Amino acid sequence: MVRDGRTVLSDAIASQADMHATYGGVVPEIASRKHVEAIAGLTELALEQAGLTRADIDAVAVTYAPGLIGALLVGVNFAKSAAYALGVPLIPVHHTRGHIAANYITHPELEPPFVCLCVSGGNTMIVDVQDYTRMRILGATRDDAAGECFDKVARVLGIGYPGGAPMDRLAQGGDDTRYELPRAHVAGAPLDMSFSGLKTAVLNLVHNAGQKGETLDLPGLAASFAAAVSDTLVPRTMEAAKQLGYGKVAVAGGVAANTRIRADLERACRRSGDKLYLPQLSLCGDNGAMIGCQAYYEYLAGRRGGLELNAYATRSIELG
Ligand code: KG4
Repeated sequence: MVRDGRTVLSDAIASQADMHATYGGVVPEIASRKHVEAIAGLTELALEQAGLTRADIDAVAVTYAPGLIGALLVGVNFAKSAAYALGVPLIPVHHTRGHIAANYITHPELEPPFVCLCVSGGNTMIVDVQDYTRMRILGATRDDAAGECFDKVARVLGIGYPGGAPMDRLAQGGDDTRYELPRAHVAGAPLDMSFSGLKTAVLNLVHNAGQKGETLDLPGLAASFAAAVSDTLVPRTMEAAKQLGYGKVAVAGGVAANTRIRADLERACRRSGDKLYLPQLSLCGDNGAMIGCQAYYEYLAGRRGGLELNAYATRSIELG
């Protein structure tokens, strides 16, 4: 429950991570079923925690794209029913726009325009946030998302799912020069990125060590990996910031919690003079508050969803 875009009254979250950890990744059908089970109770909990009743709700926000279609459809159908029953507007929100909005909650003074590095399990891109609802993609990954890469490497190292946070912990105190890992460049597209070569390099390293019976320096590998990801993300973000000259850089998405990336961005922004906005750790991963926040600005821009609203597995952040 969010008031006027910036004040979070409650942020109820139901995590399914333990369930998917058994399989080493998200099982779409299980994800959809768990959404069906959780959504009504979670909404009641959010109301209770905010000290509100249904009559206090002025609008219903929902993530309608992009993502796993089954899970999205559960949310969209529930939100449509709720908005219809309450007689209030329905506001469709692009998931990644929601991640960006987590910064408005953490930093009440932040206003567009700014450059935002969006890094999650499904997306990696550098966005020109021209206004709350007007965005342009400046560069994006051509293959894997950075978070997906963290998760795959963690899986092959056997350190759990989702792998980003345990990889981050493992990297603490590790030697980031221990393993030489590739940093890819996309010819002719300096702000685009590629992570599949890095992922393959780590997988090959692990398999070769296994075949030779060699023991890997795991903290060193995790630190070298985090450095390679950060060296791909941070200079491109800073280059975009330089080109646009807004003087403001933000980060969004689950991977924004990464210690190395946060530290490298802090250092780079100190050097360039840009102001850096990092979302608080609790708002980096998926949460409802960020969707409510972005919905306020979509609402002000006239965005409404009707009963015909559909969910989409893929959709550009530029379209909203
Ligand atoms: O934004 P998010 O919660 O979900 C998506 O919309 O994808 O991002 C989840 C991703 C996962 O890949 C997870 O491993 C990664 O964020 N992640 C991290 C860290 N915490 C979560 N990656 C690197 N370092 C972290 N500390």
